[in-house]
Amino acid sequence: MAAVYLLLAALIASCHAQPTSGDRRSPIWPASLAALAAEGKLRTDLNATLPASMDFGNITSALPAAVLYPSSSGDLAALLAAAYSTAGWPYTVAFRGRGHSIMGQAFAPGGIVVNMPSLSGDGDSSAAGAPPRINVSADGRYVDAGGEQLWIDVLRASLERGVAPRSWTDYLYLTVGGTLSNAGVSGQTFRHGPQISNVYELDVITGHGEMVTCSKELNADLFNAVLGGLGQFGVITRARIALEPAPARTRWVRLVYTDFATFTGDQERLIKLLPDGHASGPVSYVEGSVFVNKSLATDLNNTGFFSDADVARVVALAGERNVTAVYSIEATLNYGGGNASMSVDQVLKSVLDGLRFEPGFSFQRDVAYVEFLDRVHGEEVALDKIGLWRVPHPWLNMFVPGSRIADFDRGVFKGILQGADIVGPLIVYPVNKAKWDAGMSAATPAEDVFYVVSLLFSSVANDLERLQAQNQRIVRFCDLAGIEYKSYLARYTSRGDWVRHFGSDKWKWFVEMKNKYDPKKLLSPGQDIFN
Ligand SMILES: Cc1cc2nc3c(=O)[nH]c(=O)nc-3n(C[C@H](O)[C@H](O)[C@H](O)COP(=O)(O)OP(=O)(O)OC[C@H]3O[C@@H](n4cnc5c(N)ncnc54)[C@H](O)[C@@H]3O)c2cc1C
Ligand SMILES: *[C@@H]1O[C@H](CO)[C@@H](O)[C@H](O)[C@H]1NC(C)=O
Ligand SMILES: *[C@@H]1O[C@H](CO)[C@@H](O)[C@H](O)[C@H]1NC(C)=O
Ligand SMILES: *[C@@H]1O[C@H](CO)[C@@H](O)[C@H](O)[C@H]1NC(C)=O
Ligand SMILES: *[C@@H]1O[C@H](CO)[C@@H](O)[C@H](O)[C@H]1NC(C)=O
Ligand SMILES: *[C@@H]1O[C@H](CO)[C@@H](O)[C@H](O)[C@H]1NC(C)=O
Ligand SMILES: *[C@@H]1O[C@H](CO)[C@@H](O)[C@H](O)[C@H]1NC(C)=O
Ligand SMILES: *[C@@H]1O[C@H](CO)[C@@H](O)[C@H](O)[C@H]1NC(C)=O
Repeated sequence: MAAVYLLLAALIASCHAQPTSGDRRSPIWPASLAALAAEGKLRTDLNATLPASMDFGNITSALPAAVLYPSSSGDLAALLAAAYSTAGWPYTVAFRGRGHSIMGQAFAPGGIVVNMPSLSGDGDSSAAGAPPRINVSADGRYVDAGGEQLWIDVLRASLERGVAPRSWTDYLYLTVGGTLSNAGVSGQTFRHGPQISNVYELDVITGHGEMVTCSKELNADLFNAVLGGLGQFGVITRARIALEPAPARTRWVRLVYTDFATFTGDQERLIKLLPDGHASGPVSYVEGSVFVNKSLATDLNNTGFFSDADVARVVALAGERNVTAVYSIEATLNYGGGNASMSVDQVLKSVLDGLRFEPGFSFQRDVAYVEFLDRVHGEEVALDKIGLWRVPHPWLNMFVPGSRIADFDRGVFKGILQGADIVGPLIVYPVNKAKWDAGMSAATPAEDVFYVVSLLFSSVANDLERLQAQNQRIVRFCDLAGIEYKSYLARYTSRGDWVRHFGSDKWKWFVEMKNKYDPKKLLSPGQDIFN
């Protein structure tokens, strides 16, 4: 095992210049950290640093000098205080949730990576008797969760009390601190806003090593900066997250379209808000998928939603209509549990009656609420079994203004992606900007309705370079067409791109917050904003 690690390390070192050079001797730590090193919580051996040098993207890697395994917020505060107050301190600091980033956003090249799961014990017996890291409030209105907690665990703990968070990501094995540092979007975003719009309060340890509780009322600038703040201002150690009564079940539908404008028209109808800001319809979740004609049968089958007979019918329909792409709305109605009075069949019928999908092409399933929310994990297990999960993921995530989504379809789905070999889902769905808080760090397009576009490519045929070049063509197409998208989960490498991303006003504020909360610019260097 050690030999394998060394071989891997040699490979990595030969591909990437390491700021630490080949020197693997232990650094001389300031007194406050020497104790952590002595306890084995601050490690420099490859068993610690190598896993922290890689992420889900599987595209780049960078070795840190050390990894901190904190068993309490105090350990984390000690690191950040030492980093801030030690003259000539040479190490940047990154917070690694589960390393589900795509382009090294949780790396600290030559610096210190904090292994966040250690805060909850990490299977370490010394944590027995430690205080719980997920607490549902007595009235069931919120849950306090450690920043290192996985959303699946927050869900399970909440369900035990008959409640659940209301805004999600598609995949639940992500950390609370990790998604709140980005935005956290999924099919519920249209009605509840992104996850960052569903937080009441945070505990943050800033770049000064100070533990600060913040909310819209208390230390609001830190609260706003940290939400969507890409780990730049401190580490989230606790988040207070809004809950609702948990539904018991989910009616889950897919509707098939052969015309893009009809597809998006129906999506926008489903997400419409009333003037008072509440959703006008009963639908709980709205997403959508694009299937290009070339791989239609495989891609429909890969959703796991359609039977072989359904797939054959959709393929025949696409042939009859002679279309180069097929579209599908994915929507749900939650019911039961906290909403026992709802008659799901009736409500669904009234929803479907108002839509214009291909007649006869609606498909339904009925599942437990948790099975719906945790749907991607099953795919993970299946793909991992056949060696297709730990592969390069050149994903492209962007927010596209509603007025330009048809141009995006023409240029990308009916253009650049025609004839391409595509592995991975192409997801497209609208959200309401009114549900986003413009005062927070997350950047969104200027229109009332914008689309989340997630092109989740997997490289399974030694074709990473081709896929990266294809992504560049898509971005260039948008730039040339004047589509004012915002990238999501992106890592820019030039200052100018970050300024454009935030827009000059928000950028000025972002820099001001950086100078206030991380003046030495040590935190989350893998985002490449200030480093
Ligand atoms: C299979 C899959 C599906 C996904 N689906 C969605 C989706 O539907 N919607 C969506 O919005 N996103 C989605 N994501 C993206 C996800 O939000 C990001 O990967 C995010 O970074 C969370 O991953 P993580 O918790 O492992 O954080 P990491 O990748 O470990 O960290 C991400 C960044 O946040 C910083 N950070 C981590 N923890 C903290 C903390 N506690 N305090 C401060 N900063 C911190 C890190 O330093 C780093 O800069 C998906 C990712 C994967 C792999
Ligand atoms: C690294 O891990 C291997 C395999 O688990 C183990 O044999 C070795 O002792 C470890 N090295 C260190 C320095 O912990
Ligand atoms: C990609 O993943 C494989 C398998 O886990 C690993 O051997 C390789 O080092 C990774 N490459 C990068 C760049 O992370
Ligand atoms: C949960 O509650 C316990 C007991 O009050 C407390 O010690 C712990 O810090 C809480 N955990 C979080 C994440 O708030
Ligand atoms: C309960 O059902 C009604 C429709 O009958 C819907 O408007 C409402 O949003 C549902 N509540 C929840 C929590 O799902
Ligand atoms: C459809 O997908 C399943 C796995 O979900 C696979 O076992 C099956 O072979 C696929 N069928 C076709 C026709 O591709
Ligand atoms: C099908 O569409 C293609 C281009 O999209 C076109 O060239 C062809 O003529 C069409 N065929 C029919 C039968 O309409
Ligand atoms: C769609 O694909 C099928 C079979 O793969 C092909 O016969 C058909 O011509 C394609 N349609 C278009 C419009 O490209």
